[in-house]
Amino acid sequence: MAGERVGLGHGKLLLFGEHSAVYGYPACGLTLSTSLRLRILDNPQNDWQLPDIDDRDCRLLTDFLAVMTPNLPVDCRRPGEIRVDSDIPQGMGFGSSAAWCVAFVRAMLGSEVAVDGIWEAAHRAEAFFHGTPSGIDTGLSVLDGLYAFAPAPPALPGARRLDGFPLHFLIGAAPRAGSTHGLVAGLRERIESGDGDAWGVIERLGKLSAEAIGVLAEGDSANVTELGRLADAAHQELANLGLSTSYVDQLLRLGRESGAVGGKLSGAGGGGAFYLLFKDPETADAAHRSLSAVRTGNGSGEVTLFRFSWVPE
Ligand code: PMV
Repeated sequence: MAGERVGLGHGKLLLFGEHSAVYGYPACGLTLSTSLRLRILDNPQNDWQLPDIDDRDCRLLTDFLAVMTPNLPVDCRRPGEIRVDSDIPQGMGFGSSAAWCVAFVRAMLGSEVAVDGIWEAAHRAEAFFHGTPSGIDTGLSVLDGLYAFAPAPPALPGARRLDGFPLHFLIGAAPRAGSTHGLVAGLRERIESGDGDAWGVIERLGKLSAEAIGVLAEGDSANVTELGRLADAAHQELANLGLSTSYVDQLLRLGRESGAVGGKLSGAGGGGAFYLLFKDPETADAAHRSLSAVRTGNGSGEVTLFRFSWVPE
């Protein structure tokens, strides 16, 4: 349609490496099928309009547009009415702000710009929301697949596509107390004040993530149990840092009792995203039913729960 610019960004699931990635350790994750679609319609007033966005986010996004637009090539700066359609849960650790940045940059720069150019521009845009983003969320949003990342802040991380094997997940998100920025800053403060235990956890998390990347790179589905064991071990470390919640712990425990080979929180923590991994889709479907029944009767707040299987191309 004439006068309409369109961009799409995917959500992501961080599998291993949250927090340790901030200190240079490798991380891995995959692109989710959930996405944010952004359309920019021509606007006769020639200014930005955000009719789908509530007041609080509208102020934030208006500031974002004021900061971002001058950095775009002159012929790509034309403002308009932004319409947003998204099924990525917001503020839960599924990369909704990264998807927003990717979709915006794609719509503004046009489809002829290469993937690396979109990633680079979206990474710069994400700095508006997160200060010093690792680039993993925007990478997974653009690259589409299962990837290992080698952090190189403030530059983009190195990205390596992993063969992987079919991964059957039950993915959830619990109400979140705290932001990524606050949780990362709190941990940094502990480490900088000489908390050796916290640093020990970071080192072990980095090692577990590297091991998981090795398993996924090998691409042998017989190793799914090993991947689950690594997820459990990483979750225990994150919980030791105080990054889990009793509600997430309870859901993970129930998932394991329902046949998961392992599971962990995903992303910064304090509630938010988590996943359980299963050997086959049938067991994952059955666990989805059991956990859905439990969470509705629990009263600990709204929990998003969905099934997702990733299959290599
Ligand atoms: O924003 P989240 O919840 O996806 O967490 C990002 C992962 C961290 O390691 C905590 C931060 C980062 O930039 O790597």
